[in-house]
Amino acid sequence: MKTSSILPLFIFILILTACKSDRLTEQINQEVAMKDPHSYGNPDEVIIRHLDWVAAVNFETKIISATANLTVENLSGGNKIVLDIRDLAIEKVTLGEKKEITSFQVGQADSTFGAPLTITIKPETKLVSITYQTQPQAAALQWLTPEQTLGKKSPFLFTQSQAILARTWIPLQDGPQVRFTYSAEVTVPTGMLALMSASNPQEKSGNGVYHFKMEQPIPSYLMALAVGDIEFKSVGKRTGIYAEPAQLDAASWEFADTEKMVEAAEQLYGPYRWDRYDILVLPPSFPFGGMENPRLTFATPTVIAGDKSLVALIAHELAHSWSGNLVTNAIWDDFWLNEGFTVYFEGRIMEHVYGRDFAEMEQRLGFEDLKGTIAELGDTSRDSHLKLDLKGRDPDEGVSDIAYEKGANFLRVCEKAAGREKWDAFVKGYFEKYAFTSMTTEKFITYFEENFIAGDTVLANKIRAKEWIYGPGIPDNVIEYKSARLQAVDTEISNWNSGAKAEELLTKNWATPEWLYFLRGIPHTETIKRMTELDETFGFSKSQNSEIVSEWLEHSIQVGYKPAFPALEKFLTSVGRRKFLRPLYQQLIRTKEGREFAWTIYTKARPGYHSVSVKTIDEMIGWTKN
Ligand code: BES
Ligand code: ZN
Repeated sequence: MKTSSILPLFIFILILTACKSDRLTEQINQEVAMKDPHSYGNPDEVIIRHLDWVAAVNFETKIISATANLTVENLSGGNKIVLDIRDLAIEKVTLGEKKEITSFQVGQADSTFGAPLTITIKPETKLVSITYQTQPQAAALQWLTPEQTLGKKSPFLFTQSQAILARTWIPLQDGPQVRFTYSAEVTVPTGMLALMSASNPQEKSGNGVYHFKMEQPIPSYLMALAVGDIEFKSVGKRTGIYAEPAQLDAASWEFADTEKMVEAAEQLYGPYRWDRYDILVLPPSFPFGGMENPRLTFATPTVIAGDKSLVALIAHELAHSWSGNLVTNAIWDDFWLNEGFTVYFEGRIMEHVYGRDFAEMEQRLGFEDLKGTIAELGDTSRDSHLKLDLKGRDPDEGVSDIAYEKGANFLRVCEKAAGREKWDAFVKGYFEKYAFTSMTTEKFITYFEENFIAGDTVLANKIRAKEWIYGPGIPDNVIEYKSARLQAVDTEISNWNSGAKAEELLTKNWATPEWLYFLRGIPHTETIKRMTELDETFGFSKSQNSEIVSEWLEHSIQVGYKPAFPALEKFLTSVGRRKFLRPLYQQLIRTKEGREFAWTIYTKARPGYHSVSVKTIDEMIGWTKN
């Protein structure tokens, strides 16, 4: 062939390749904007699209035996897929429907990030099946004995995957930029109910086998499973409560406003995209207040106060159905996009359902927390930027008031600067446009500048977004909430400080936020006599409200009020919610005597805490394995 005849063909091939790689780059850019520093996965080359999980849960051995059938798309035509695993025993890996055995390799393991599982595939591979077992110490899983439950008869299992613990129970590309749909078949002992972050059963099955489907694509940190003696009660047309039988009525009463909250959220920022919204009330060792597992929020029982006063937590987890579950932080450095938006949205839902003055009190308390956190970090700390830098660190270190409260305060500045109407339209449009995708801080800023600021320099100067996002501390354009109800509490605090008796204080209509504000406002130098007076008048030590008790206990440790210590011991040995444990142990270890008390209690309580709380408290008090 002469050169002149090959040339057109050559050019043609060149154009074809260029087109293909252009399309490819575009697709990759859309899905995986950057390398995730907390995942070994290679979703830029081969990406998981669907998981079909077949699993059996064994309470005797504390092991889940499973096969993860991954439908993958080989974007690069390469010959390997890399997954994240931590403490998984991999038995075998096969390719395709014919289950042909393939080779795999487990890399060097890190105690936080686990190890890469590299599997040999072919350019045309569409199905990769991994058969494996979890280990009893899997960090995401908490296996509870019957004694650790309310009913005392059945054991209980629940998972907590966020941020990077999904890899301790399922081999996946465990980073929030990878979304997949899933189906599951889970076998549990008969007489127990299994639930997932998916379509769920409302009754126990006769044979202990359950089927699940999650048809919307979700990131791995939203994978969730719970197994126990659990029953269901409906509280609205698409809302209901799952709980142990002994707590089902109380929980259903407490969360009776759930349907109203979903309606309020929809009115604000568009349709709820996940079909049902149910809540599962877990045993008290659950390490968080709540976890936004899609279709099924996991919640601590410590929000059941008997008066609906702690339901902001439900508003929060529900709000994640938009901020987080629909539009997802791309990597954990962008965590504020999940939590800041959610705290903001939570406040709006609370305002809608319970009124502005109630919501403002909660916002004010959050702002006080933020100031406290910044004081601890120091006002130039890199960790006080909204956009975090968690490379090489456990993303759990990013869970602080910065993402939550500084994030929400930034958004309130935007709202105020432009007015609600313009702001709400923008936020709604943002959720709609980026539904089921992940978002980096930079992409958000571009969208924000184009669609919200839109060249209005006056507006931009009012907000100063970059100072909030890439700068430390709290910028001086923050909005300080003046709550009339909390101002009334200030008056009572000063009455108390000038010697008024506890019974003379005007506390008649106080709700939880007022009590919390009061307890935070009274001096840390209180005498035992005055503490006794407060306790006898208001019954703090025996309060059923976990927020009030924990605040009171913290104060009691600070002033050395010993009569509260039996209640303190009971609290620390029965509740595993990290938000409460952290400040209590922190206060205790400040004195030698307190330190000894802390160690005695922790020795007893530690086996009952979830690994997430154990890790935090171990580090704090200097616990070592021997
Ligand atoms: N998604 C978080 C919990 C979380 C964050 C778990 C990061 C692991 C890593 C959840 O939505 C949350 O924020 N829970 C709060 C609720 C509160 C802010 C109302 C909690 O648990 O205290
Ligand atoms: Zn949250």
